[in-house]
Amino acid sequence: MRALKGVSFELREGEVHALLGENGAGKSTLIKVITGAHQPDGGVFEVNGETLSQLTPGKARELGIACVYQQPALFPDLSVAENISLRLEKSSPFALVKWAERRRKADELLGRIGADIAADAEVRALSMPEQQLVEIACAMGAGARIVIMDEPTASLTRKEQHLLFKVVRDLRANGVGVIYISHRLEEIFALADRVTVLRDGESVGTNPVDGLTEEQMIRLMVGREVSAIYPPPEGVVGEAVLSVRDLSCAESGVAGVDLDVRAGEVVALAGLVGAGRTELARVLFGITLADGGGIFLNGKAVKIRSPREAIAHGIAYVPEDRRRHGVILEMPVAANITMAGHPKFFPGTLLRFGAETELARRFIADLGIKTDSSESPGGSLSGGNQQKVSVARWLATEPRLLILDEPTQGVDVGAKAEIHRIIRSLAEQGPRRADDLQRPPRGARHGRPHRRHARRPHREGFRKIRSRCPSSHGRRAWRCCGNPEKPR
Ligand SMILES: Nc1ncnc2c1ncn2[C@@H]1O[C@H](COP(=O)(O)OP(=O)(O)OP(=O)(O)O)[C@@H](O)[C@H]1O
Ligand SMILES: [Mg+2]
Repeated sequence: MRALKGVSFELREGEVHALLGENGAGKSTLIKVITGAHQPDGGVFEVNGETLSQLTPGKARELGIACVYQQPALFPDLSVAENISLRLEKSSPFALVKWAERRRKADELLGRIGADIAADAEVRALSMPEQQLVEIACAMGAGARIVIMDEPTASLTRKEQHLLFKVVRDLRANGVGVIYISHRLEEIFALADRVTVLRDGESVGTNPVDGLTEEQMIRLMVGREVSAIYPPPEGVVGEAVLSVRDLSCAESGVAGVDLDVRAGEVVALAGLVGAGRTELARVLFGITLADGGGIFLNGKAVKIRSPREAIAHGIAYVPEDRRRHGVILEMPVAANITMAGHPKFFPGTLLRFGAETELARRFIADLGIKTDSSESPGGSLSGGNQQKVSVARWLATEPRLLILDEPTQGVDVGAKAEIHRIIRSLAEQGPRRADDLQRPPRGARHGRPHRRHARRPHREGFRKIRSRCPSSHGRRAWRCCGNPEKPR
């Protein structure tokens, strides 16, 4: 797949330049080319008058380019201060490590962006938004002249967002050029001076933000009108599906939670980063165990001791951190979508790859997941498309209680509306067969799967095993290999 085709882009001193495009349009790829992580096969860069045909990460840093990537790329076993210093300090074989200096620097940078994170904390223990704040602190500390932010606020709350906006405005005032990627159009209006729109790897054009309306921006991005972005709630609510009374879990800091969720309603859990929303979701899904209070499903007290038990009770959980707990990057998209509902989709002992492909294609069409095929590895998808796979997996299980933790982070406006529509229709109509999730075809890419797959599921499946597993270890090995070119 060609991710970028003849993109032209110009960043001026002291401007915030937004980069906008649907999921899979090529924004992150462009950023990776600018930071030297990917090599382009054509075109040139000009940085401060110096013309280059390609960059290396070292050269990019020398030129004063710093980036907050879409996925935090920190070392989980090192502390926050160590991670920050690894990015900022120059390596030298005889240098002494100045621990106090490292901690002081980390504290100062975290303080500048208003992040309440201890410099000594191990990154493994941080939540996704906290890791994102550490990434932002690293970029600030680099003293760069070009700062790139690839969806920096995808999982931040309003409070952190405002602090970040202040940081971005300060950077601009100091003459730094900022490339800002976000699917939240209100952020682009609040921050950006100009916006460049990418569509299918090509730049559609650059415009000043002043004078553009939200509708015009969306039309430039998707090439058509998107209406009814947030459909209003309809329908009636029924009995409580979930009741939580005085729930506590010392391990994750959840204490004294009372909550009722009735059939047909969508309940929002609000709170700042660290308030315990994710922790509560993890207790309800049996990842961390409750040590006090009660959980009632349809009025019956239940003990949820593992995710397996939660799934058996009809609970589904779309986690916040898709890289760590969501998509398995080496596995095909289809296997990623069906993995939470195997006993339901494939009663008996055999997996039916034809049926799996059919189900996956349906979700790929419904959520507009941009992928070469349902067999492509999850890691080859753009960030927003990986998020859609993570959501599709749990929608496919037709849960009685669906818990979604930041389900539309990094998802473009059209797909966000679609995910919201599906969540509402699930709430209104209750659990249904996955078949029902398909809405009327909206275009060629929404066609039904080829009949061959439906008619001969077993043969189709086994043919795939033979052709895809290089080590011929059968179904299990094929599952492990994921990508046929790169057996592990
Ligand atoms: N490692 C990879 N291997 C193969 N294809 C890839 C890889 N990374 C990205 N792509 C493809 O390149 C295209 C552009 O992806 P990119 O990540 O740049 O999109 P994006 O605009 O950042 O989208 P999003 O808003 O979802 O983050 C996508 O079609 C994606 O599937
Ligand atoms: Mg991206």
